[in-house]
Amino acid sequence: MPAPMLSVEPLVRLWKGIVAGERLDERTLADMARSAADILEAQASSESITLSQAPKVEDYPFVHTLNVAVLSADLAKAIGWDRARQEEVAAAALLMDVGKLLLPQEILTKSGRLSDLEFEAIREHPADGARLLLAARAPDLAVAVAYEHHMRHDGGGYPDPGRASLDWKPAMASALCQIADCFDALRMHSPYHTGKDGVRVASVMRVETGRRFDPVLLDIFLDRISPKIAATRASLAALAAAAG
Ligand SMILES: [Fe+2]
Ligand SMILES: [Fe+2]
Repeated sequence: MPAPMLSVEPLVRLWKGIVAGERLDERTLADMARSAADILEAQASSESITLSQAPKVEDYPFVHTLNVAVLSADLAKAIGWDRARQEEVAAAALLMDVGKLLLPQEILTKSGRLSDLEFEAIREHPADGARLLLAARAPDLAVAVAYEHHMRHDGGGYPDPGRASLDWKPAMASALCQIADCFDALRMHSPYHTGKDGVRVASVMRVETGRRFDPVLLDIFLDRISPKIAATRASLAALAAAAG
């Protein structure tokens, strides 16, 4: 198995290139998506996935994204999607928050409550991300997941392009990445809060079944994936080295 390549630096380069208007670096994205799925295979026998805590505040959005890619690929596998599809989902997860790079650093890494205005700014990142990814000629699935990953199962969330009248349901990949995203955001120590352990996160998320989250996907995630999470401070880079 090739050594997994999941670390912050290539992800930062990827996002910055997209924001600068460059064409997507497909090779780096594919390598990282493959690594996200490789980590699952490497850890399949141990029945546990090690996720990273962000070592530096400015790394938080990127480390979080790497974790979400691993979890999304694992959920895709758990619902029976083949390896190619798992990698497509991981690639979409790696890009879905690229619109956040347009936000001021103070908002991205602010500790404590965000103001209404700051929340409004954050709510722009799905549409901004989709627009940037379209311009960078990213895969269609990545554009869709960027746009839809904060849309709730019950029709709420953002952005809301008139979902009720359009009968707009997010793609399954978007619903799946949303679950992985929320799990890691609650679990990880971040600028916003102190991380919770996996059991506590699972019980918080279960309350939102059928509301925020697709109930079938959430059941599979909470039954089969979240129990495998070993919340340690080991970095993904160290994990990648061990797996390679
Ligand atoms: Fe997001
Ligand atoms: Fe997130």
